Amino acid sequence: TTPTDYELIGKMEMLPVYQPRQKFSNKGSYGHALIVGGSYGKIGAVTLASRAALAAGVGLVTAYVPKCGYTPLQASFPEAMVLTDANEEILTNIEFSIQPNVIAFGVGVGTEEKTITAFENFLKTNTTPLVVDADGINILAKKKELLKLLPEQTVLTPHPKELERLIGKWDGDFDKLEKTKALSKKYNLVIVIKGANTITVYQDKGYVNTTGNPGLATAGTGDVLTGIITGLIAQGYEPLVAALFAIYLHGKSADIAVEDLGYQSLIASHVIETLGEVYIDLF
Ligand code: APR
Ligand code: MG
Repeated sequence: TTPTDYELIGKMEMLPVYQPRQKFSNKGSYGHALIVGGSYGKIGAVTLASRAALAAGVGLVTAYVPKCGYTPLQASFPEAMVLTDANEEILTNIEFSIQPNVIAFGVGVGTEEKTITAFENFLKTNTTPLVVDADGINILAKKKELLKLLPEQTVLTPHPKELERLIGKWDGDFDKLEKTKALSKKYNLVIVIKGANTITVYQDKGYVNTTGNPGLATAGTGDVLTGIITGLIAQGYEPLVAALFAIYLHGKSADIAVEDLGYQSLIASHVIETLGEVYIDLF
């Protein structure tokens, strides 16, 4: 095995990759993100990811949800367009005529057989860059043959339980990194190991995030991260750079937010609301 080469990621590393807004631009200059997910009772995950993608700077967002998601999404969040599945409560068919430049799959989507089949059929023809999170990862873990259908440099964002389902139990941090590197190399994946010190693995390299705090240990912050990564890929950031920059922005936004709100009271929506302050700090 090759020793893992680590890099710490902070403001100094992100300043050179940051793409400022251009005066002569329009929303078409900043991409179109499609967020596919949700199920009855978990539409909020798609709402958070979609809002986060917009706050990260994407030009257009479309959410693709089961029918029950239509009204809550449109009512709470006028900036997003909404497409719906034929099914009321879960996704059963992922088909659309729009041409997004990145797709996120998995937040709140559940692991029903019909949803798994829909994802498999989608993967067979999809060539658009992809971010897979939450139950999307659980589906990949359940049906490992789907891994080889993922586009090059697909970004996976597992929390510890989701990672364990994907790579199996590990024996210490070294073993966890080795197993993650092996999966990254086998399928050419960017794998974000979420937690207090989020580590992103690509091939033989590990990137250690330096922002964030325990205020983030609250429902929906993972969905927000997925939205930011997706919003950055839509704007033209390479998948690995998008993941690293998104993790930096997400953590830094939470660091700013807790100064006013405290660790306990930070909720996922605040991370979206404060994101702009992190961008202002990069001017
Ligand atoms: N310090 C810093 N960051 C933290 C900390 C901490 N102590 N705890 C959590 N975080 C960050 C993680 O790095 C990650 O970015 O908060 C985010 C949590 O993401 P998830 O664990 O995916 O949580 P979330 O998505 O909100 O959970 C909602 O989605 O993945 C499913 O099974 C999950 O049902 C759950 C649902
Ligand atoms: Mg999650």
